[in-house]
Amino acid sequence: MKSKVFLLITSYLLLHQSLSFSQTKAEDPHRFFDPKKLTEVGVYYYPEHWDESQWERDFANMKALGFEFVHLAEFAWAHLEPKEGVYTFEWLDKAVSLADKYGMKVIMCTSTATPPVWLLRKHPDIAIMQENGVRLDHGARQHPSFSNTFYREYSLKMIEKLAQHYGQDKRIMGWQLDNEPRPSADYSEVAQQRFRDWLKNRYQTIDKLNKAWGTAFWSQVYSDFSQINIPQLSVRFMNPHQILDYQRFITDETVSFLDEQARTIRKYASPDQWITSNYIPEYGDGHLRASKEQDFPTYTRYQVFGENLGIGSRGYRLSHVERIAMANDFFRPVRNLYGVMELQPGQVNWGQINPQPLPGAVRLWLWHVFAGGSKFTCTYRFRAPIYGIEMYHYGIVGTDGITPTPGGLEFKKFIEEIELLRKVYDPKAKNNAAYEARRTAILYNHENTWDMQRNRQTTQWNTVGHVSKYYDAIKSFGCPVDFIEENTDFTNYKIIIVPAYQLIDSSLVKKWTEYVEQGGNLVLTCRTGHKNRNGQLWETPFAAPIYDLIGSKIDFYDLPLPETPNHVLFDDIAYAWTSWGEILLPNNGTEVWGTYEDDFYKGSTAITFRRLGKGTVTYVGVDSQEGEMEKEVLKKLYSRLSIPILDLPDGLHIEYRDGFGIAVNYADKTYTLPVSNNVKYLIGEKTIPTAGVSVWVANE
Ligand code: GAL
Repeated sequence: MKSKVFLLITSYLLLHQSLSFSQTKAEDPHRFFDPKKLTEVGVYYYPEHWDESQWERDFANMKALGFEFVHLAEFAWAHLEPKEGVYTFEWLDKAVSLADKYGMKVIMCTSTATPPVWLLRKHPDIAIMQENGVRLDHGARQHPSFSNTFYREYSLKMIEKLAQHYGQDKRIMGWQLDNEPRPSADYSEVAQQRFRDWLKNRYQTIDKLNKAWGTAFWSQVYSDFSQINIPQLSVRFMNPHQILDYQRFITDETVSFLDEQARTIRKYASPDQWITSNYIPEYGDGHLRASKEQDFPTYTRYQVFGENLGIGSRGYRLSHVERIAMANDFFRPVRNLYGVMELQPGQVNWGQINPQPLPGAVRLWLWHVFAGGSKFTCTYRFRAPIYGIEMYHYGIVGTDGITPTPGGLEFKKFIEEIELLRKVYDPKAKNNAAYEARRTAILYNHENTWDMQRNRQTTQWNTVGHVSKYYDAIKSFGCPVDFIEENTDFTNYKIIIVPAYQLIDSSLVKKWTEYVEQGGNLVLTCRTGHKNRNGQLWETPFAAPIYDLIGSKIDFYDLPLPETPNHVLFDDIAYAWTSWGEILLPNNGTEVWGTYEDDFYKGSTAITFRRLGKGTVTYVGVDSQEGEMEKEVLKKLYSRLSIPILDLPDGLHIEYRDGFGIAVNYADKTYTLPVSNNVKYLIGEKTIPTAGVSVWVANE
């Protein structure tokens, strides 16, 4: 008896341990994916949009094209809970069974972006109240407020039912929370109160808040938290510190809502099912990397919609190489794993102008997503809609429901090509060593972007554009790039670029300094260190907390007019700039790398370099118009550090993963790849045309 009890207790403990262990995000998410598959490809399907008699045909057609999983129930709340508390899973069960019958796994979604009308009519305040006092209404999507308590409660109730129903279902491989969740402003009374509570929690006393917000300015002082309202974002002169906190608040609201969803699912889900959400790569958003509960992030990407001009007069049919590259490099480092949940399958309907993508573009994008290390790519959507707001949006098949679109056929081709790679995949293969030796990090924090975009000082300043100049430069060197955060172990990287890192504190400066002293190479750029974490200037000369690190002082900064740009001289070439230039006063021993060419500060210092301990610090006090100067400065640095780099032309990227080299060409010209002549091409060849892809076994 005793031993039985003991056994029971130990097995309970073991089970409990394994459950709680496998259910924490901390465990390596690679366990969810079979490395031999390299990547998997899936497609969105909305059975509720189509006559049930067509479902089996549709699933059979998905399978025939090679899809390995389907994505279901994303906007289906009204179909799952047609009346309050009445749940109907039969239709979804049937779709899941059909997916299984045709050998496809399922991503199950929480349909919180589209609550049913009964819920809105019962609790109209679920919908967002805009700044102008207008409340959103039923008939679109993403109208509810993440700050609304009823919405949260009803959502979690529905999710709990869904998780109870599918949590142990082996056919479900993972979960997607909401759809493209983003923080949005809600001015309703509930949201106002939650903001006040959030502030109280952050500051404890109103005096601390008054200090952090600088409310002595313009008589803004508060004597009680109840007096505070959500800042009016459209008002030009609104308190910037209040806005910074509000952005933090709505980000937290988004993250906490998603994390609550994840925890609800985890209560019932098997440890084999992963949880993610599909984020739009808008780098100014704060929630993209913040979830504490999801296993890994995925992103959504649309390339061709009349913007993103790319290279040459038809570059808009491919878009620019940076878009997918940067999203890969931004999301992958969060958990060293990512997927892409939506990749454009063809022409869309929601741009100002909606051109056809170039033939071959969809396959190019698929390979580019793969090149960054993605574990899967999914596409919105299988069938082109024939009613609703997204008419004219392409799918994998057209409006007849059966004929594959050009993009559909490109997905098919990609899936077949991945099969080829799976056959030769060698789990022991190493990535190209020279590629790994170039690995570079970019330190990024969305709060800098928030703060600078509100306080630009010139219409010429663009924060993400500034980051892009450095990113594009190192991608043209063929570097693998990781976007990292302050809590990352900096010593993993030989070079860390820190573009316009405006908000700092002393512990960050200490971490940077130690990194350099131990042999790291830091590149800091203009605007770094100007403010504290509340977005206030230091009570010192501009950016004084970083002077010891960069080996310079900052005298002042200037902003010329765009019609008459100024120039910075670097290695005998003058580069135009308008958006930000800091006039530096270097210490003895700090090398001057670049000087200003015009105006009353002609000859003064713009760019410096110094050694510190075992490492180096480069300070680039100016933001050039075209980014060519940034590229040349970095070239000089990599050369000083004896790190060999490539010199890839605009539009051509090369990455390595799983022992394969992958090149993608977004340019309007054919290029010859700077790759050893001895490699064996599995796809494409050494010359790579527009929209071309080459893949080789990386035994260089
Ligand atoms: C995405 C969205 C999808 C669909 C798609 C159309 O942003 O997540 O639900 O609307 O756009 O291109």
